[in-house]
Amino acid sequence: MKVELQDYPLTSTLIKLETGRVQLTLIEEPDWFLERLGREDNQGRLYLPYWTYLWESSVGLARHIEKMGERLKDAHILEIGCGFGLTGIVACQMGARVVFTDAEQEALRFAQHNADQNGVSQRANFVQMDWNTPCFNRKFPYILASDVIYEEPHWTPITALLQEYLAPKGVALFSEPNRSNATGFFDLLTDIGFIYRKSTSPATLDGHTFQVGIYSVRRAA
Ligand SMILES: C[S@@+](CC[C@H](N)C(=O)[O-])C[C@H]1O[C@@H](n2cnc3c(N)ncnc32)[C@H](O)[C@@H]1O
Repeated sequence: MKVELQDYPLTSTLIKLETGRVQLTLIEEPDWFLERLGREDNQGRLYLPYWTYLWESSVGLARHIEKMGERLKDAHILEIGCGFGLTGIVACQMGARVVFTDAEQEALRFAQHNADQNGVSQRANFVQMDWNTPCFNRKFPYILASDVIYEEPHWTPITALLQEYLAPKGVALFSEPNRSNATGFFDLLTDIGFIYRKSTSPATLDGHTFQVGIYSVRRAA
């Protein structure tokens, strides 16, 4: 997989974390591409492929996981809705092995390019997976999910994915920008036997600082 420069105007940004740095290639005109790539889903709803932006939630989750230290060394991680791949790349930098997934092949092209340019592609795999049609036959001790619960129709497939893929003592880490509807998703998770703890993580992106909600989710004992 290779990002074709003629397909997108590209820009580059350096994400500075507390301990590390990640160089990312991004799309220069994400608004224009979001509109161009928008389409109807199979239920007639407008589907916008939000991977064309880097979201502050991914910076917040990256900052959270860089504090996890040795726990991530050699851990097998599934990332869902990876977009440009920032959080998974930070996990790889900490010694984890990450399966980056996204419904969008183009997002995966960027994630792979970004993993390459940060020297972590030997710890990374890239799999096109829609969370409505999961495709693995194994469980993961960690699942990363940055800004994937913004629309309610996503909640049921994502909770099903957790039931299927989270190892018995595994941890799923969600991040989101404190949207008012997020509690509905975590209520749903609680109803089906998960527990969660919320914290916040500061994220600076494009000169603005945000407080990102971080949710650490496990199966109830
Ligand atoms: C708001 S973006 C977040 C991207 C990235 N995680 C971040 O925080 O910058 C949502 C991501 O979920 C992906 N996505 C949307 N619907 C999906 C689905 N049904 N299955 C898998 N991925 C999906 C999009 O392509 C996009 O990369």
